[in-house]
Amino acid sequence: MNTPKGLQDVIANESSICFIDGAKGILSYRGIDIHELAQKSSFEEITFLLWNNALPTAAELKDFSHQLAAARQLPDDVIEFLKSVPRTASPMEVLRTTVSLLSIYDADEKSVLHTANVRKSFRLTAQIAMIVAIFDRIRKGKEIITPDTSLSHAANFLWMLNGVKPSETATKALDVALILHADHELNASTFAARVIAATLSDMHSAITGAIGALKGPLHGGANEAVMHLLYDIERAGTDPVEHVRGMLANKEKISGFGHRVYTTEDPRATHLRRMSEDLGKDANPKWYEMSRKIELFVKDEKKLNANVDFYSASTYTTLGIDIDLFTPIFAVSRIAGWCAHVIEQHDDNRLIRPRADYTGPAYPAPYVPVAQRTSKVKDWSKPKA
Ligand SMILES: CC(C)(COP(=O)(O)OP(=O)(O)OC[C@H]1O[C@@H](n2cnc3c(N)ncnc32)[C@H](O)[C@@H]1OP(=O)(O)O)[C@@H](O)C(=O)NCCC(=O)NCCS
Repeated sequence: MNTPKGLQDVIANESSICFIDGAKGILSYRGIDIHELAQKSSFEEITFLLWNNALPTAAELKDFSHQLAAARQLPDDVIEFLKSVPRTASPMEVLRTTVSLLSIYDADEKSVLHTANVRKSFRLTAQIAMIVAIFDRIRKGKEIITPDTSLSHAANFLWMLNGVKPSETATKALDVALILHADHELNASTFAARVIAATLSDMHSAITGAIGALKGPLHGGANEAVMHLLYDIERAGTDPVEHVRGMLANKEKISGFGHRVYTTEDPRATHLRRMSEDLGKDANPKWYEMSRKIELFVKDEKKLNANVDFYSASTYTTLGIDIDLFTPIFAVSRIAGWCAHVIEQHDDNRLIRPRADYTGPAYPAPYVPVAQRTSKVKDWSKPKA
């Protein structure tokens, strides 16, 4: 059997949510091109689109946005939990654990019915943004900011994070970033969510698993790794191209480059590059300029394109956002897609249970009595370096 490692190109299920053509660099939500959505839409509108398979009318959008803002509530016990977490904890692990905790307080916890899932989707989408902002305030010893229901999802997040009403530029930049990150077909975290949901486990369990998958540096964690690289280069005072050349010579991977599906430019990177450049002009262009040099070099040297994470790093840093909030902000957006996929999975479910290509000892292997065994395992009890 020739098993595609990492399930590359395997079609695992049908879905009507997100269409990608990796060779042509096309991404669409429910068939609508991401470039058009990034320019004309809002996070609320694309979330409606992802959950309902149609763009909302003006009245529907107003009602939907109102419901999402009204869901900005966290149980007191959950806020107390956030206060009790060590301040050194990473925001991603706090988010993962808090989402798991939230299920205990959710009236619809066990139900996998469509209506219950939609109610939970509103709550989780509103709450994930709150958890990220509130924990950041707590760990910095700052007061918790009460949500403002008159603000959009993006603006309220910045308000709760910084305690000042955000500028139109910052709100627009974050809103576009949230649109771009909201869904991406069967990426690792969404697939993890669907596998969990397909056991008929609940939405909170699926989203907790998805957050765990997003955290890894090969997935959502890459945006943080990109910024660490930029800081390393700045600290060392080296030329960005020479630094990256050295990494490639050492066979290191450069975070923010390459993609399993896109063989041409990731359409999300097009917008994030522009945002990084535009925001840099008004603030500090150095992160954009450094990123651009690296991008051109890696493209030339390795034929690898920048992905969604590469310019997210300089964009968020220019917006004044801390590095360890980059991946949580990915979750603040991707929750929209995760919910759409869990709803779709539960609405037409079948257990996801693939097979493995067995490569172990030939069957039947002998069961040797314990007294007659000699050890065949090298250093099994010693901790690995
Ligand atoms: C995204 C990613 C995990 C896709 O992985 P994949 O489809 O399994 O592809 P592979 O890791 O097998 O890479 C294929 C080849 O390209 C190289 N490559 C891929 N991404 C690379 C990168 N970012 N830097 C350097 N080389 C890279 C690999 O070394 C490999 O080369 P080889 O065939 O000579 O060994 C991979 O490109 C990566 O690790 N990128 C960095 C992390 C990142 O930005 N993740 C966010 C994705 S949106």
